[in-house]
Amino acid sequence: MLIGVPKEIKNNEFRIGLVPSSVRELIANGHEVIIEHEAGIGIGIDDVAFENVGAKIVNTAAEVFQKADMIVKVKEPQPQECRMLRKGQILFTYLHLAPDPEQARLLQESGCIAIAYETVTNKLGGLPLLAPMSEVAGRMAIQAGATSLEITNKGSGILLGGVPGVAPAKVVVLGGGVVGTNSVRVAIGMGARVVVIDKSLERLNLLDLQFGSKIMTIYSTTDAVERHVLTADLVIGAVLIPGNSAPRLVTRAMLKHMRPGSVIVDVSIDQGGCFETSRPTTHQNPTYIIDGVVHYCVSNMPGAVPRTSTFALNNATLPFVLALANKGYKQALSQDPHLMNGLNIFQGKVTHKAVASALQQEYTPADALFG
Ligand SMILES: NC(=O)c1ccc[n+]([C@@H]2O[C@H](COP(=O)([O-])OP(=O)(O)OC[C@H]3O[C@@H](n4cnc5c(N)ncnc54)[C@H](O)[C@@H]3O)[C@@H](O)[C@H]2O)c1
Repeated sequence: MLIGVPKEIKNNEFRIGLVPSSVRELIANGHEVIIEHEAGIGIGIDDVAFENVGAKIVNTAAEVFQKADMIVKVKEPQPQECRMLRKGQILFTYLHLAPDPEQARLLQESGCIAIAYETVTNKLGGLPLLAPMSEVAGRMAIQAGATSLEITNKGSGILLGGVPGVAPAKVVVLGGGVVGTNSVRVAIGMGARVVVIDKSLERLNLLDLQFGSKIMTIYSTTDAVERHVLTADLVIGAVLIPGNSAPRLVTRAMLKHMRPGSVIVDVSIDQGGCFETSRPTTHQNPTYIIDGVVHYCVSNMPGAVPRTSTFALNNATLPFVLALANKGYKQALSQDPHLMNGLNIFQGKVTHKAVASALQQEYTPADALFG
């Protein structure tokens, strides 16, 4: 199969669909790979690195789209990219179609086979191609929080780990899933006192087994959230109810009683945020202050560390890219129900139930197309 990787064109996007080691695996499996000129330059991977593993560099995105049987990307295709897709061509990337009817329409018109990273599942009911970005964001959340606590950033001037003779900061993590677990790990590493609050006893049990007495696990109730948030130096918002807006666990009334200079990092801002006072911010202007509390609510945190994010994403996507290339989409999808869950649009038809419902379009079960 001929696999093509265009340079990402979304604003401030530096990640790339395939890294050289993934290209090498594909070529060892008998495939060809074309990469757009300087597609990896933003994260320090030059054309020579790709040529050294057998890829061919082409000058334009148009050439990539025209020649490739499968396009591997990171972000959803922009309108000019959608218009370059053709009937029967495979597109494997993040799509986030539910809130984006215009992109859905263009993909449908193209006749392509669009497989979305974010709806591929695994045996545990998780989303394996979303998880790497949650791992990155969870670890970054503590870094962002520690910096925001500095006095020059209007924080309270507390060092997370304290020093001998001076108490460390109290970090409260709301939601102990992928983001939460990674935040906990870094917070412990920096020497903070850590409390995790989740409504899943199963999650709390796993965290207890993993971190033992280094953390306190608390069952999520309004009372528990209030008690711990009011005495926190740093609160990480990491809750998720899949497919829904994040529950507003911390109200404006609670915020008023937090210590001035405390910091909240609302990672769940991409689902609306779990603090009543959260609103999305950017890497250029990441924080704002309400009632003396510093709010960090960047909605694309992994974008700040595109090199790590690209490699993490590639580790998760490569097995699926190989399956699609080695078996062809029909066999790869019908043999793997989890990859099949990633199929959002098949030659004009919407094949993912939740996406169809969000777009108010007819849902066509993928089985019917592959039967
Ligand atoms: N801002 C960013 O750049 C960025 C990057 C990655 C992920 N995210 C977002 O971070 C959020 C968390 O992602 P995740 O991968 O950790 O999800 P996850 O499903 O692994 O974990 C979410 C956890 O929240 C818990 N939860 C749900 N309701 C709760 C409540 N009322 N009280 C306490 N806990 C509750 C769940 O039990 C679960 O353990 C998502 O909204 C995700 O989209 C944002």
